[in-house]
Amino acid sequence: MKTLAGNPYLVEKEGNVFIESVSIHEILEEFKPPLFIFLENKIRDNVKIFKEVFTSHFENSEFFYSFKANFLPEICTIIHSEHVGAEIIGELELSLALKLGFSPSDILLGGPYLPDSLISRAISLGVKEIIVHDLKDLKKINAIAQQQGRVQDTCIRVHSTKYGSKLGIELTQNACKELQEVKNKFQNIQLKTLLSHLTTQMNNINQYRQNLGALISSIRKLNKMDVKLKNLNFGGGFPEATVMKRNQLEKIASFMEHALHEMDLEVERVYFEPGRYFVGDAGILIAEIIKVMDDRTIFINVGNHICPKFAKGSYRFYNLSRIKAPHKFKTSINGIVPTDQDILAKDYFFTKELKEGDKVLITNVGAYTLTFSNRFPYSLPLILSLNKTRIKKIFDPINNKDFSLQHWI
Ligand SMILES: Cc1ncc(COP(=O)(O)O)c(C=O)c1O
Repeated sequence: MKTLAGNPYLVEKEGNVFIESVSIHEILEEFKPPLFIFLENKIRDNVKIFKEVFTSHFENSEFFYSFKANFLPEICTIIHSEHVGAEIIGELELSLALKLGFSPSDILLGGPYLPDSLISRAISLGVKEIIVHDLKDLKKINAIAQQQGRVQDTCIRVHSTKYGSKLGIELTQNACKELQEVKNKFQNIQLKTLLSHLTTQMNNINQYRQNLGALISSIRKLNKMDVKLKNLNFGGGFPEATVMKRNQLEKIASFMEHALHEMDLEVERVYFEPGRYFVGDAGILIAEIIKVMDDRTIFINVGNHICPKFAKGSYRFYNLSRIKAPHKFKTSINGIVPTDQDILAKDYFFTKELKEGDKVLITNVGAYTLTFSNRFPYSLPLILSLNKTRIKKIFDPINNKDFSLQHWI
């Protein structure tokens, strides 16, 4: 018995691969590749571990799932049932979160684009916080909240200087002065929280140090101007749970706890907004080899359009049809989008024998693959969820047509 890709729900037994208790042969008798499968219990494990680890270091922590990682209603519902809030960026995600039963008081909403209609709706619903990337948005929020006779809590996303990223606000002297004015003059907003999200797939503790550093230096600058934000939002950025094991997560949580303690900062609440960690390794894709070339390049019947590199998943590939054979022969794995760019993996260690019709398992496809999927004109794959032996169709291209958000709300 062997676990695949470090995922306890994917096990090879005597040449057969099992997803939880169901054999892939059984699944393939009923459904044809390309096929996405989401493992409900893996999502639940991931959420539980994440919450356990961080609450043991920060008793005042709160968790918000970053919907953009995967906004399939079934996935968001599973996460909601684990008592996690939502981090969303726009109107459609807001409608979906409400439809799925997330309470506005568990929703952090915000991003680079906050049209007036969205701000107005968010305030009247009473969302927990509106996150701003631009100080000008604070003025708009204050004016709209005033019209509604409300006071809205807000969060400032600071610029965490990754590769000259322009996401968030750079807290220059002028920006700090502006925030001081906001605090003194705007009666209908409360500056509550400071957010820094450095990047995704943060494998290295230095990246967490850098993110925390951005928050701490910003808090200090603002404290000097007597602008005191009570909460810190660390954003997301955690790799797939099979990549970042519990002990590494513990190290990061412990490092963050100590760093904050040393700084002697008064922090009321800390927020986390993971996306990939919750869902990344809970998604697998089964594809089929459609062409084998002499130079060990293979083409499989999915590509960048539904399994894009841009999703930055830690993809692993297995030849399901020859699962017992050693995977140690360099192979290039290409998708079916007719461009030279559609290379899913180069020199990947795969089986010696390669045949058209072989089934290929791709792991760690649960986060951002659907979000960054594009309109390349192939039909979309069937998507199933699996819990023990229960298999459910959660997206069927024939009936559902499209998995864009408009279709779910
Ligand atoms: C502000 C913010 N929070 C959370 C996330 C989720 O990131 P991840 O899926 O890497 O955890 C993102 C992703 O871009 C983000 O921009």
